[in-house]
Amino acid sequence: MRLFLDTASIEEIREINRWGVLKGVTTNPSLIAKEHGDPDAIWAEILATVDGDISLEVTDLSSADAMEAEGRKLAEKAENVVVKLPMTPDGLSAGKRLTNDGIRINVTLVFSPAQAILAAEIGAYIVSPFLGRLDDAGSDGMAVLRQITEIFAVQAYETQVLAASLRHPMHIIECAEAGADIATVPYDVFLKLVRHPLTDLGLQKFAADWNTLQTELKGRA
Ligand code: E4P
Repeated sequence: MRLFLDTASIEEIREINRWGVLKGVTTNPSLIAKEHGDPDAIWAEILATVDGDISLEVTDLSSADAMEAEGRKLAEKAENVVVKLPMTPDGLSAGKRLTNDGIRINVTLVFSPAQAILAAEIGAYIVSPFLGRLDDAGSDGMAVLRQITEIFAVQAYETQVLAASLRHPMHIIECAEAGADIATVPYDVFLKLVRHPLTDLGLQKFAADWNTLQTELKGRA
């Protein structure tokens, strides 16, 4: 399972990229708005920093033509751009036209296996079911993800399943078990993934024992 970072913060991206585990970044209009800057400048910095799939979302949802035109402009920014389009009839229509021209798309705001099938049928590169938001609404986001990965395996769909809207480390573990191709992980969850109290205690004990040895050796000299 590839790990993406779900953020538009360049500081967060630089930190996780440094770990060597980062395979891509997902952004959306809310994440861009949180950075309070010029979207084009933010996208450019992300594209220059990470050598993996970067999802950039269309914002003019007035028609399929508008989404297609904006998607083409976003795709021109760099080879690693994946154009993010919403799961709507216009989004599917625009997405199909883009995939026909070899532009990779990520169909977002997916909440059901039926929607995921539609994304696969237009040849989407990625489909993004939102697990946390389903959980928030009293549904079982992980069960939806499992259904989608099962259907995609049976149907041999090439579309990659990206588990989105993840909230805690257990989400990441269960997504891996369920066969998600990608998990897009918020920064705070990445920090929780790397930390374990026994690792911290182990480090303290190693350091203490090492210092004791140094003192012993000095005493003998
Ligand atoms: C995915 O691409 C989305 O940006 C994201 O995972 C949404 O997560 P949220 O429900 O925490 O906003």
